[in-house]
Amino acid sequence: MNFPQYRARRTRRSDSLRRMVRETHLRPEDLIYPLFSAFGDNIRKEIPSMPGIYQQSIEHLVAEARQAQELGIGAVILFGIPEHKDPLGQDAYSDAGIIQRTIRALKAELPQLTVITDVCLCEYTDHGHCGVICDGDVDNDATLRLLAAEALSHARAGADIVAPSDMMDGRIAALREALDANHFSHIPIMSYAVKYASAYYGPFRDAADSTPQFGDRRSYQMDPANRREAFREAALDVAENADFLMVKPALAYLDILRDIRERSDLPLVAYNVSGEYSMLKAAARQGWIDHDRVMLETLLGMKRAGADLIITYHALEAARLLRS
Ligand code: PBG
Ligand code: ZN
Repeated sequence: MNFPQYRARRTRRSDSLRRMVRETHLRPEDLIYPLFSAFGDNIRKEIPSMPGIYQQSIEHLVAEARQAQELGIGAVILFGIPEHKDPLGQDAYSDAGIIQRTIRALKAELPQLTVITDVCLCEYTDHGHCGVICDGDVDNDATLRLLAAEALSHARAGADIVAPSDMMDGRIAALREALDANHFSHIPIMSYAVKYASAYYGPFRDAADSTPQFGDRRSYQMDPANRREAFREAALDVAENADFLMVKPALAYLDILRDIRERSDLPLVAYNVSGEYSMLKAAARQGWIDHDRVMLETLLGMKRAGADLIITYHALEAARLLRS
């Protein structure tokens, strides 16, 4: 394999040749589209920091989910903006809650579409933290009970997959136990296994109205400096029988994605988070980058790093490009 006998350019000479030797492929079915369900009627409010992404009431949300299905997108993941927030986040585990009603509407209209639900309390608590507050910090074990109730009520409403994003210790086991004890042993858990305390979540917190009212999430989300800790987090969730593992954010953590790919054979999900989306939109608006090419290159990079699936706000626009 030495020049001039070997010439790498030989297999790059035409589009057809490049396609033959292509190693990684991005497909609409690899993509998962996040949707924000807002309480009320006829609401479709664009999130200023996330152009093209909306807080919307159920009828509009179902219409967008239908588009996702028609484009061949793998699944949607739901986030809720409830009418009322309180210290215990009660809307999160109420059978009449915003997400439970959204799931029932989606399942009635689009029974074939896979519906994933984000299981966390921060969108439902008035203090904006991901669990119950006790002595100024999130109480792990008290939170587990509420998360289990939330996942169970999502399953009762018809969710196909539950995805806990809270980062409490022991949550996968708590959810698995609650689901199994209530005839939902067939419902998979997609664990936000490796989730860092990241500034890239900023625009999402505008979208979900879930900014912590005091302090930050560093006592439960991971320190961005830590790699070995990611292996422990993933191993714990595997031991507790998670069905999918996730790494979040994606772009600044592609090394971690590759690491987890090499250490686990579970399906692996990358979360291309809100701040990653907003950066690309902002640069494209300035005319500084080619939006579509940078978007596809970024998503492809996540697959090449080891992701089987990508949760991305670009899902609809990427799927349209991939199909054309
Ligand atoms: C809720 C949750 C968050 C995201 C997904 N689920 C926010 C957070 O943890 O603060 C972030 C998604 C994004 O930035 O796109 N726990
Ligand atoms: Zn949360």
